[in-house]
Amino acid sequence: MSNNTEEQITQNVLESMANTPNPRLKQVMTSLISHLHAFIREVELTQEEWALGIQFLTRTGHMCDDKRQEFILLSDVTGVSMLVDAINHRLSEGATESTVFGPFYREGAPELPMGATISKDGRGEPAVVMGRVLSTDGTPIAGALLDVWETDENGMYEQQDPEQPDMNLRGKFRTDSEGNYCFVGIKPVSYSIPNDGPVGQLLRSLGRHPFRPAHIHLLITAPGFIPVTTHLFVKGDKYLDSDAVFGTKDSLVVDFVRHESQAEAERYHVTAPFYIVNYDFVLKPREA
Ligand code: BEZ
Ligand code: FE
Repeated sequence: MSNNTEEQITQNVLESMANTPNPRLKQVMTSLISHLHAFIREVELTQEEWALGIQFLTRTGHMCDDKRQEFILLSDVTGVSMLVDAINHRLSEGATESTVFGPFYREGAPELPMGATISKDGRGEPAVVMGRVLSTDGTPIAGALLDVWETDENGMYEQQDPEQPDMNLRGKFRTDSEGNYCFVGIKPVSYSIPNDGPVGQLLRSLGRHPFRPAHIHLLITAPGFIPVTTHLFVKGDKYLDSDAVFGTKDSLVVDFVRHESQAEAERYHVTAPFYIVNYDFVLKPREA
């Protein structure tokens, strides 16, 4: 145990944790140390690279405050967030697929009537989003809550942009007795994730761009059902195949169908040109 040579050190560290009382912590730490040491051996990490890594993690920590979470961003751009999400939502056969939550959700968005708009500044092209919320057996779910948020046409969420009204492009909508929902948003645009910190530097060093394909975020909940955190992505977006945070899923890519008719626009209290999206969400009952 005392002879900490290159050959013996991994075993010595693993043995030092033999008395960990929490079995899950023991399992996680044993695996983490084994993989970490194997990685260091595989790349033969130099002292300079080790120091660079420590500096990178230190800068990542310093970038974090109550508005900015650079460690989650690091987890997002390395695919870790989506892998954890996938492992934890494996059992949802037939249910709407989940994707990243992201850092721009805000609690307390206003609950709005069926068909209302979430745009408070009137910018962007209107998009009418409608459909039903169903159980995995096809039964409509009445009273499901859809909490939605998206960026403005400039690619910024309202809390990133002092020009936007408070709670712009955020709202909650409830399904009616037949499980129908409808809200008016704007056609989303692709945008850059925050890239002025260490994660942005990492992306540039790797020759990667910081863009996400255009999407609307939704958090859908209903009593007795497993909630889903998901997106609707715009079909045809040029970043669908290279989302900076690996959040895309084929089943979440939808047609934003363009309509030019002002008469039709008036039915939805919007102005032409506008878009219509039809999408049914499916939730899994908790007991299933
Ligand atoms: C977002 O879609 O809001 C987002 C997700 C992950 C990282 C940054 C932004
Ligand atoms: Fe987003």
